[in-house]
Amino acid sequence: MKRKKLPRLFMTLALLCLLAGCGGGGTENAAPESVPEAESADADNEPEAAPLETDSETPDAANEDTADTETQSKSQTGTDKLVVYFSRVGEQYSVGVIEKGNTAIVAEMVAERTGADVFEITPAVDNYPTDNYRALTDIGLQEQKDGARPAIATDVENFADYDTVFLGYPIWWGDLPMILYTFMESHDFSGKTVVPFCTHGGSQMAGTAAKIEGVVTADAVLNGLAIEGTDAQNNRDSVRETVNDWLAGLGY
Ligand SMILES: Cc1cc2nc3c(=O)[nH]c(=O)nc-3n(C[C@H](O)[C@H](O)[C@H](O)COP(=O)(O)O)c2cc1C
Repeated sequence: MKRKKLPRLFMTLALLCLLAGCGGGGTENAAPESVPEAESADADNEPEAAPLETDSETPDAANEDTADTETQSKSQTGTDKLVVYFSRVGEQYSVGVIEKGNTAIVAEMVAERTGADVFEITPAVDNYPTDNYRALTDIGLQEQKDGARPAIATDVENFADYDTVFLGYPIWWGDLPMILYTFMESHDFSGKTVVPFCTHGGSQMAGTAAKIEGVVTADAVLNGLAIEGTDAQNNRDSVRETVNDWLAGLGY
């Protein structure tokens, strides 16, 4: 897996830029009024140790790990692939109020292409606001500072039956949302291949594939795909093409 080394300063500036509302390229929509001002993301608010590396948005054409996807086991629905994702509706960065989360849109595309079963991670107690993006970012940051492990409402049936787990999430403060850690730490990934994907507002993968590798005991963590949240929401045809090309490149 190839990852570009980026200086910490760049990552910090990128995050400041994101929260100031300038985000990544191609974000044509005006940021919602409640996007935090730049000064709210000062040194005190900066997440601990933003990763120094990020995954390329364009995956390598070939990946020898894909040989691991040849499997014997099958779930009750007949597939050995599972999409697990977390995603929020309501007011989100640079897309206004949305009815389907950015990551949920990409998750559906992955499932359509691969025939995977789908499991949405939903919090047991949902304290995440849907009407105030800034309040949502505050909660996400607090969870990160606390090292929180928010409880999950329901569990995947027969997780052991799946050989490939596509893991989808929004980037929150340069990391995975803490509830993803709840999921990763409470499931046995032995013998599985994990394929990460995320949506974001400019941070790309933000080094999250390496974070996943550090937590799960999977056989392999393949090259991740990072999609701008605004593209997932507003440019679905081109995102579907990107998703399909990425999956094909990984052998799916
Ligand atoms: C709590 C929070 C923190 C965020 N932090 C970042 C960040 O560090 N970098 C980034 O590029 N985008 C960040 N975003 C923007 C989201 O990653 C982006 O809007 C994503 O597409 C949302 O996906 P969803 O609709 O599936 O939840 C953050 C959003 C929230 C709510």
